[in-house]
Order: sequence, then structure tokens, then C-alpha cells
Amino acid sequence: MESGNIQIGDYQFEKYIEKERIESKIIELADSINAYYSSQNVQTIVLLDGAETFASKLIPHLKFPISKTELQLKTYEGFESTQTLQIPLELHHQFNKKDPVLIIEDIIDSGLTLFKLFNYLNQYGFNSLQIVTLLHKPTCLKYPIQPMFVGFEIGPEFVIGFGMDIDESGRELDCIYRLKSI
Ligand code: IMP
Ligand code: MG
Repeated sequence: MESGNIQIGDYQFEKYIEKERIESKIIELADSINAYYSSQNVQTIVLLDGAETFASKLIPHLKFPISKTELQLKTYEGFESTQTLQIPLELHHQFNKKDPVLIIEDIIDSGLTLFKLFNYLNQYGFNSLQIVTLLHKPTCLKYPIQPMFVGFEIGPEFVIGFGMDIDESGRELDCIYRLKSI
């Protein structure tokens, strides 16, 4: 059992979203996604490392055939978005243009990661692109990204747990915690 507060290095985090709330939200998201895609084949892209935990809990509830590509695109150092992103060359060869693409993300902050990925996929003619994100910080958005499926909208706070990290710490926590003070 995890307590209300945890310390990582110099930073204090407080419990924010309980495990049970996350789990029931994932079921709700899966229901909406199942209704949207019905029985189509869907190509999923899981953005590593943050979205791995979310994807591993979401995908078993999806009722249509999927393929899964894991992709590492890192934009954060500590609490800061670095605003740079490299997309591996030839990534588009892993997808077909016929089936829709669902990007599975842990959290949207500035929107840079998804904006770049969208532009990249659009340029190769993938047009049926949607996003599911567990968390969304709408007040931090700087790029025109509109996720179709959103778990929780939160404020500009920094969060860890359920796959999300601060410099590789905190991913294993089964609840979501937010930074108390810097
Ligand atoms: P964006 O490109 O600015 O939208 O940032 C998206 C990525 O930054 C997410 O996929 C996360 O990996 C990371 N990120 C953004 N906000 C947080 C946070 O509060 N905690 C942990 N990681 C975050
Ligand atoms: Mg991520």
C-alpha cells in the first residue's frame, strides 16, 4: 500500500489519482474506443516509455483486431519539455495506409510530441489518426492537437506514477502523484 506522500530526491509528491479511479477510467475509455472503431483493424502506436503501463491495461479491453508498434520519442528532461524530437527514419514503412491509426499516449503537455508525429504520418498519407491519452493538460497546450479520447484533464502540475517518471523514477507507482513544491 502506497502512502499519501512520497519523496524522490529533493521533491515531494502527493497522491493525486487513486489506482481504482485509473482502472475504472480505462474501462470507460475502452468502451468509447470500442464503439468508435467497431470491428475495424486498427494500428496502434504506443509512445514509450511513459504510455507502456497505460497501453498494457487498455489493450486487453479492446475488442477489435490491432497491431502494436512501440515508439520511443523523448521530449522531457526533469520537469522541462526540451521542445525537440527525432522521429526514426523509415517509421512509416511499419504501417499500412488502409487501416486507421490510434496513438496511445500517457500525457499531453505542450502537444509537441503528438504534433510532430501527426505531421510525419500525414505527410505519408495516413489520414485516419486518433489519439487516446490517459492525462491531458489543456492549459499547457502549445500545438494544435485534439485527442479524441481523454482519461483525465488536469492542471499544469507535474505528475508521476502509472508509467510516468521524473528522470526515470516513479514509473512503477500504481497511483498517480503530483509534485507538491519545487
Ligand atoms: P509534450 O510533447 O509537451 O506534449 O509532452 C509529452 C510527453 O512529455 C509525455 O508523453 C510525457 O512523456 C512527458 N510529460 C509531460 N508532462 C509530464 C508530467 O507531468 N510528468 C511526466 N512526464 C510528462
Ligand atoms: Mg509519453
